[in-house]
Amino acid sequence: MYNSSKISIAITCAIALLFSAAALAGPKTSYGLGVTPTKEEIALWDIDVRPDGQGLPIGKGSAIEGEAMYEAKCASCHGSFGEGEGRWPPLAGGENTLKDDRPEKTVGSYWPYASTLWDYINRAMPFPAPKTLTVHEVYAITAYVLYLNDLIEDDYVLTQDNLAQVKMPNQDNFYADDRPDTHNTRCMNNCKKPKDIVIVQSLRGITPEQEEEQEQGAAKVEEKAKPTLSKNALAGEAPYKQSCFVCHGSGIADAPRTGDKNAWASRLKQGTPMLIKHAIEGYIGDAGVMPPKGGNMNLTDEQVTAAVHYMLEQN
Ligand code: HEC
Ligand code: HEC
Repeated sequence: MYNSSKISIAITCAIALLFSAAALAGPKTSYGLGVTPTKEEIALWDIDVRPDGQGLPIGKGSAIEGEAMYEAKCASCHGSFGEGEGRWPPLAGGENTLKDDRPEKTVGSYWPYASTLWDYINRAMPFPAPKTLTVHEVYAITAYVLYLNDLIEDDYVLTQDNLAQVKMPNQDNFYADDRPDTHNTRCMNNCKKPKDIVIVQSLRGITPEQEEEQEQGAAKVEEKAKPTLSKNALAGEAPYKQSCFVCHGSGIADAPRTGDKNAWASRLKQGTPMLIKHAIEGYIGDAGVMPPKGGNMNLTDEQVTAAVHYMLEQN
């Protein structure tokens, strides 16, 4: 009796081990967490609409119906004719501008499929209150935006069956990226030291005004600069233009603008050596981040020092 119960314990342990080993080896199908979503719950998430119209709910609406809805819920930002109020995005116009220097991308000039318009409005608009529109409103407003782009007549009734047939003007200019894959080979000897690798960045004007300001800034600097520069400062002109002007030329990222006396007055009180130290080592101040050497670690300390002199002599 004594022996056999010992054996039965041993067997039990062996079986337990076997089971837990099996459990460890194979992927577990359930961790006992969460609940299986119901069909209704999935339906609430599954709202995407595809280019062929798959996913559109049953419904309809025309531009005539949509006009008043658009005026009430969209025009304050996008303009009564889709021209865009202030800096809000326009939704119409811009035909044949895609190859211009400043292409105007709108629903009509750029978007490949009408289904995206339905989907976008349904998901995201009106901006302050997304997902508040009824299916009927989304159809009618979509029809109105297509009408503003001269893509359908105002009495055309958009439905789940014909929306995908609206052909967008720019559709054929989208194509699969045909550039070949490139494969790098890993460097195994004589490689650059990590600390020598720099990321060279240039901030480009984000809006037209900023670019213009920058250009004007540059012009001003040049007008004033040349005759009065000390030798120290002259050597700083090139590094300044290369690595500092991008921010200090226009005051982007809240950098104190070169030549703006007020912006520099309190800074000058720290003394030039401190300004130079800040320019070389970088620092975070109340206005923002001054990256070490303006982010260009190829510059020598002397070049950055000269760039600071160049900046200060513009004041
Ligand atoms: C309070 C301002 C506001 C209102 C009102 C508003 N929108 Fe917008 N809309 C925006 C903003 C901002 C964006 C850009 C959003 C982004 O890019 O993330 C946008 C983007 C869009 C776009 C995409 C434009 C593009 O080319 O990328 C469409 C289409 C659009 N809105 C339609 C509508 C419709 C239709 C309504 C009314 C039901 C509406 N919007 C109401 C602010 C607004
Ligand atoms: C990415 C933008 C950016 C670039 C590029 C940049 N700066 Fe700055 N710089 C700033 C900002 C922002 C400040 C203000 C930070 C603060 O005081 O909050 C600043 C401040 C300064 C100051 C004032 C320091 C002080 O203590 O008040 C000097 C001097 C300066 N930068 C020199 C340079 C020089 C020289 C270069 C080029 C080698 C350069 N910066 C490039 C953003 C930039």
